[in-house]
Amino acid sequence: MQSEEIRKRFLEFFKARGHAIIPSASLVPENDPSVLFTTAGMQPLVPYLLGEPHPAGKRLVNVQKCVRTQDIDEVGDATHDTFFEMLGNWSLGDKAAPDGVGEAGYFKEETIKWSYEFLTSKEEGLGLDPSRLFITVFGGNDSVKEADEESKKIWMSLGIPEHRIYIMEGDSNWWSPGDNGPCGPDTEMFYDVTEKGLGDLTKEAFKQADKEQKAVEIWNDVFMEYEKKDGRIIGKLKNKNVDTGAGLERLAMVMQGKDNIFETDLFTPLMNAIDMRAASQDLCAKRIVADHIRTAVFMIADGVLPSNTDRGYILRRLIRRAVRYVDVLKMKEGTLAALSDVVVLKYESVYKNLSSEKEHIGQTIADESAKFRQTLERGMKEFEKISRHGISGKEAFALFSTYGFPLELTLELAVEQHITVNKKEFEEELKKHQVLSRAGAEQKFKGGLSGHGEMETKYHTATHLLHQALRQVLGEHVIQKGSNITPERLRFDFSHSEKLTDEQKKKAENIVNEQIKRALPVSYEELPIEEARARGAIGAFGDKYGERVKVYTIGNDKTGIFSAEFCGGPHVKNTEELGHFKITKEEAVAQGIRRIKALLES
Ligand code: SER
Repeated sequence: MQSEEIRKRFLEFFKARGHAIIPSASLVPENDPSVLFTTAGMQPLVPYLLGEPHPAGKRLVNVQKCVRTQDIDEVGDATHDTFFEMLGNWSLGDKAAPDGVGEAGYFKEETIKWSYEFLTSKEEGLGLDPSRLFITVFGGNDSVKEADEESKKIWMSLGIPEHRIYIMEGDSNWWSPGDNGPCGPDTEMFYDVTEKGLGDLTKEAFKQADKEQKAVEIWNDVFMEYEKKDGRIIGKLKNKNVDTGAGLERLAMVMQGKDNIFETDLFTPLMNAIDMRAASQDLCAKRIVADHIRTAVFMIADGVLPSNTDRGYILRRLIRRAVRYVDVLKMKEGTLAALSDVVVLKYESVYKNLSSEKEHIGQTIADESAKFRQTLERGMKEFEKISRHGISGKEAFALFSTYGFPLELTLELAVEQHITVNKKEFEEELKKHQVLSRAGAEQKFKGGLSGHGEMETKYHTATHLLHQALRQVLGEHVIQKGSNITPERLRFDFSHSEKLTDEQKKKAENIVNEQIKRALPVSYEELPIEEARARGAIGAFGDKYGERVKVYTIGNDKTGIFSAEFCGGPHVKNTEELGHFKITKEEAVAQGIRRIKALLES
């Protein structure tokens, strides 16, 4: 089923159930200074969720364009994108509320029943296999203690077996748009996208399947009956509301039997156009270009222009990042503007403003790319020059102000080269020069540097184990080319020119798990760089430590030393803290550089 049909069926399904079809609001929020872009279908409806009557009534449905950039580093994998369309239905106040306009509202019973019907009905909906559904419901958190047993019962009454419904404690099934506004518990639907089917899963196995994108979240029904102020629940709203959201890209992926969104009809014209023009087969780079250009087109159509502040800054960053990947793919200059036409063509029947803005969109992208190109070359030369010893805040600022390098670009390049950037000093410089009217804008883009939380620390150590394991399996030519850690996973880039065989992956995985089982102590020493080198420590030299470097050693004289590596840390004290190590993905990122993503399971 094509995306056009999915949109149409969704709107018709809810129209037949008394919902008014409302248009997508602009990506630029009209009256909400707390966000730069519309990030969810509910956002333009906040005043109505808070109690104002909506002119179209109490039951609403639409397809809302959204932009979320906090996961920009993940773009390139199977499901992440920075622009997406959200299918949503709303009820403003349930039946109990005095009925002013339109039909009466509804709450959990109807919401869940209709979600189920739409997903599974062959005639009116998507005709998905009910036995492949997994459901999560709210299990209580610090603010609201009770689990949502009612939703669980409703799912069971529809025929979902109890063991496929998972009660999730904490905030995983609590949805709120930020620190302020309407919020509440939710129930989420996941679909098993594996070929053979996962069968029934324990809660832990289900969480794992979610992480590995084998069970994909396709819809979220939020029961908005609470209000938050400054991060705290201050009580119940006047009305009980319903806010549901289903990502079109994900639904298309499920309906079209693909394991990634880039092979759905929403992306294929664009991916084909990129394939035709690219001289490199770097899939990740192709997806990044496709994603960023699509988002840029929609932003410009809604009136955003590249600039150094707020929205304009995010648009600038997307275009500039796309330019870099155009180069990775060895595509011609001018490609991005041509690709923007492909996006317009794909979407103009749904979003009419695209066709009227087509020329302006192409021109804006062409101008911004050209501007960036002029400085990119000089900037890269400067970067190479100063990057040998880590980058000071002043230097990062000079790259920004003289060469137009957004801080995140410098951070990304630095991560690739395993050097550090003094972010704090950069920010001080920035304030001094008052170039950004709101420094917060660049916070909206997550930098490449990882934090120091418990999971991140574990992943740091796991990265060292993996690095050494790969050297044992593939050879000493393997060296770290980049690393990126989030609380959910590690990502490790290294020099090697061929795809790893399943056997090689298994071997590396086994070596890492063996070291975890051996419960090796982890310790560090600060040494003069020459001595560290002489001892055979691996890793990037000349970090912020100058003449003396920190070397982390896994194992000791008694157990034997498994790995010694230059690193700033932090690390766990003993490898036994890590749990089970699992490689989830192996792919090329550039000529001669492979990337592994891996998880630790408890
Ligand atoms: N607001 C919820 C979400 O964004 C449901 O629409 O997931």
